[in-house]
Amino acid sequence: GKVVLAYSGGLDTSVILHYLVEKGYEVIAFVGNIGQSENFDEIKEKALKTGASKVYVEDLRKRFVVEFIFPALMGNAIYEGRYLLGTSLARPLLAQKQVEIAEKEGAEYVAHGATAKGNDQVRFELSYYALNPEIKVISPWKDEEFLSNFKGRSDLIEYAKKHGINVKATKDKPFSEDENLMHISHEAGIIEDPMYRPEEYIFSKTKSPKEAKDEETIIEIYFKDGIPVKVVNPKENIVKEDPLDLFLYLNQVGSENGVGRVDMVENRFIGIKSRGIYETPGATILWTAHRDLEGIAMDKEVMHLRDMLTPKFSELIYNGMWFSPEMDFLFAAIKKSQEAIDGKVVLSIYKGNVMPIGRESPTSLYDKDLSSMDIEGGFTASDSKGFININAIRLKAHAAVLRRKNPY
Ligand code: ARG
Ligand code: SIN
Repeated sequence: GKVVLAYSGGLDTSVILHYLVEKGYEVIAFVGNIGQSENFDEIKEKALKTGASKVYVEDLRKRFVVEFIFPALMGNAIYEGRYLLGTSLARPLLAQKQVEIAEKEGAEYVAHGATAKGNDQVRFELSYYALNPEIKVISPWKDEEFLSNFKGRSDLIEYAKKHGINVKATKDKPFSEDENLMHISHEAGIIEDPMYRPEEYIFSKTKSPKEAKDEETIIEIYFKDGIPVKVVNPKENIVKEDPLDLFLYLNQVGSENGVGRVDMVENRFIGIKSRGIYETPGATILWTAHRDLEGIAMDKEVMHLRDMLTPKFSELIYNGMWFSPEMDFLFAAIKKSQEAIDGKVVLSIYKGNVMPIGRESPTSLYDKDLSSMDIEGGFTASDSKGFININAIRLKAHAAVLRRKNPY
């Protein structure tokens, strides 16, 4: 049969590719460019050399920004209060393209190289099934026969050498990484000790806040319906409007100012705790700016309700439920909440910090006269008396009952 394999060019997926060819499959390699720093020509060549009948290298960067990153930020997605979901958001996109290719090629199978202990396998496979209920999944790291052949990393290396697969000469880092244009994650290996302080060499997408320049960068971000539409750096006369350009520019600003480092222990879907280090420069700026604009443009009760949904929205993304009925349902509500989130936020970016310092909105709900401590502004002071009295009815009743029950 024909199989479309999500291929990275690394050791694991190269061995998997060759192994599937040996098992008699026709393997089509799919390489998704989601902004990872790789040489895609080299990866393509390696896939062909390793036995792929065909290679698709797809530039998915814009689709990643427009259809995944921006919608997630529109809902203030953040897992367990800290992780901006850079890997979690990329998986459904890769799976989507992979299924598209499988359908175009008439392939019965899709395959991936994610391990059996992680979140990524769940995200890939749930997305495959949600997009094509007939698709068959090959997941070598859950396959008895594959596992009996490859018990550890050394078996992979030995197999690769035996079959002329180039095992990268670059010295292996003692931990695992996943990179795309939104973030890079560092996990496993030496990072598994939760007390180990990550050394500076581990970080690759952000400068250390300590090393960042001793001068703030001022930027303005414009939103329309909760989606960023323009970024301006007034001092340097820079204007970015294309979604990908805009996002990459914020990455650059965040990166050189040490923005977006997170070090945490998180709960994986399958219940295992995992220590992760993340660098998410541009999205950290956008998350902060968007939340700030909501402060001036979003109705109070809508905001408070929406804030209850944010953890669920984030969990759905983390757990691989991007394509699910509950996500469609939730996202419709989030979209509705954003219909008047228009305007601009001014931010000071400085040594790892992102500080909103001003905001304005054509759909502002902020009334300077009403909010002012100095002006009456059409507000009747005595109305507050009744308001407090009525709210106190219940509290007084409760206090009286307690006094009767527990007299001093
Ligand atoms: N813990 C993060 C997540 O679950 C990052 C996973 C990184 N994946 C990887 N294959 N290295 O989203
Ligand atoms: C993996 O298992 O492939 C990486 C870790 C994860 O998915 O959480």
